[in-house]
Amino acid sequence: MTNLEFNKLSSFILTNYGIKLPITKKTMLEGRLQKRLRALNLFSFREYCDYVFSPEGQQTEVMQMIDVVTTNKIDFFREAVHFDFLSNNVLPKYCSSSFSAKPFKVWSAGCSTGEEPYTLAMVMSEFSEKYSGFDFNIFATDISGRALNAAAIAVYTKEKVSPVPYILKKKYLLKSKDEEKKTVRIIPELRTKVNFKRFNFLDSHQTFTQKFNVIFCRNVLIYFDRPTQEKVILSLCSKLESGGYLFLGHSESISNMNLPLVQIQPTTFKKI
Ligand SMILES: C[S@@+](CC[C@H](N)C(=O)[O-])C[C@H]1O[C@@H](n2cnc3c(N)ncnc32)[C@H](O)[C@@H]1O
Repeated sequence: MTNLEFNKLSSFILTNYGIKLPITKKTMLEGRLQKRLRALNLFSFREYCDYVFSPEGQQTEVMQMIDVVTTNKIDFFREAVHFDFLSNNVLPKYCSSSFSAKPFKVWSAGCSTGEEPYTLAMVMSEFSEKYSGFDFNIFATDISGRALNAAAIAVYTKEKVSPVPYILKKKYLLKSKDEEKKTVRIIPELRTKVNFKRFNFLDSHQTFTQKFNVIFCRNVLIYFDRPTQEKVILSLCSKLESGGYLFLGHSESISNMNLPLVQIQPTTFKKI
């Protein structure tokens, strides 16, 4: 791949998806796009660029390219302190003050292959056993179609579900009938609580009207530059109910941004 081809692809990805690809990522991009070249029977990155920027490529190939470019690392109960705060503080407060018949709404923004929204579903399902009448639903979005397909199927290796506490494994995971497979699937009752949708934070045409009590947007902003991070957080704030909570990843900072949020604990913010 020439530097010119790399610059063309990386600036397109930055402008439309916010994902930074400095020149140091050129070898990574080349490696990851090799399988797209093979799948399309193309022999050079020049041909690939011509195709991806053609009207047909814009319709079909761009999403495939974004699938290979995104990093979807995610775990069940990742940064567990957030789930503890949700079940020990946010949910009890909600039930004692603003409790209504409407379901408690959570957005897992950048949900990757589903481990985060299913962790949320387990945590809130446990909570609902203690507070009768408490109900919830989870809206889970990502730009990667490949990740969203895996999330909707909800089948994970036993190794992947190892952070799930034993008691929750027993309740919410079904073992594959085929013992050799060593996989488990999230039970249907939990799967129906999560609604997956493809959503690009940078696409201003993609809007929805609903507001959320809690938004998890963790380990997504790290891929964006500072102005894009601020734009994305501001738009997340507009989707948060007043008094609602925003959770970010442990290495993400919003200091010095002009936002309607107060910090409650590291990486946990409340909308004012
Ligand atoms: C590292 S994963 C984070 C998963 C999870 N939130 C966690 O903390 O474990 C980052 C996710 O952000 C998604 N992403 C990157 N750019 C995006 C964009 N412009 N719009 C929506 N999602 C995006 C990626 O596809 C990826 O699945």
